[in-house]
Amino acid sequence: MEKLDLERLPKHIAIIMDGNGRWAKEQGQDRLFGHYQGVVSVRKVVEAATEIGIQYLTLYAFSTENWDRPQEEVTGLMTLFVDTLAKEVPDLHKNNIKLHFIGNLDMLPNEAKEALSNATRLTAQNTGLTLIIALSYSSRWELVEAAKSLAIQVSKGSLALADINDTVFAENLSTKGFPDPELMIRTSGECRISNFLLYQLAYAELYFTDTRWPAFRKEDLLKALLEYQSRERRFGKTSEQIQID
Ligand code: IPE
Ligand code: IPE
Ligand code: MG
Repeated sequence: MEKLDLERLPKHIAIIMDGNGRWAKEQGQDRLFGHYQGVVSVRKVVEAATEIGIQYLTLYAFSTENWDRPQEEVTGLMTLFVDTLAKEVPDLHKNNIKLHFIGNLDMLPNEAKEALSNATRLTAQNTGLTLIIALSYSSRWELVEAAKSLAIQVSKGSLALADINDTVFAENLSTKGFPDPELMIRTSGECRISNFLLYQLAYAELYFTDTRWPAFRKEDLLKALLEYQSRERRFGKTSEQIQID
């Protein structure tokens, strides 16, 4: 923690929480046990992010593609979301955390939809960490929705074609109002994006660790942040230009 430069923290960290199933298998348990232990990691990482002073944290909890998993696992995950929200939201609220959900939420069972809209409403005025949960999320879906929304605005005459730029485009994504993540972490060894925030991660630093999500703790987050701070973010410029800036 002392090694961190508090002046150069990312405002927004995004995490692909992967490896619950493999972690459980390694413990001789079933996959669902891994998801339950994954919730413990979520709690620890949210606490650590708050303590460090991160402003936005996006967690990839369930992708659109995950609907194709065995029915038993999908049902188990939905029950876990609802139960976890019921258990954790009062504490999150007490800690001034603002909850936000992104994804094709219409696909969720009613009970889950209700739980997340209640959590969003309850924490809407909070001013601490913004915790964004990507649920039934697919970046391609989000981009297609943005394209449709822009097309409707142009056809109604409320938006001129010439006025569409990257800022306007970003305002039509579900992450409207949030800065782009500067750091994206994926656990459990896979080096891919899996349909996550394709537009928003355009210039993010990517960090891959072999640690399985249920084993991920504050120290692992600090390691990722130290690695982030050791990188030179050039945004197309030369190293010399960056040093003068
Ligand atoms: C991540 O862990 C959680 C979800 C995708 C819901 P996995 O369930 O993908 O775990 P592995 O990748 O099979 O180990
Ligand atoms: C990505 O994990 C989605 C989440 C972490 C929620 P997966 O484990 O589903 O990703 P792939 O399909 O192996 O790339
Ligand atoms: Mg996985």
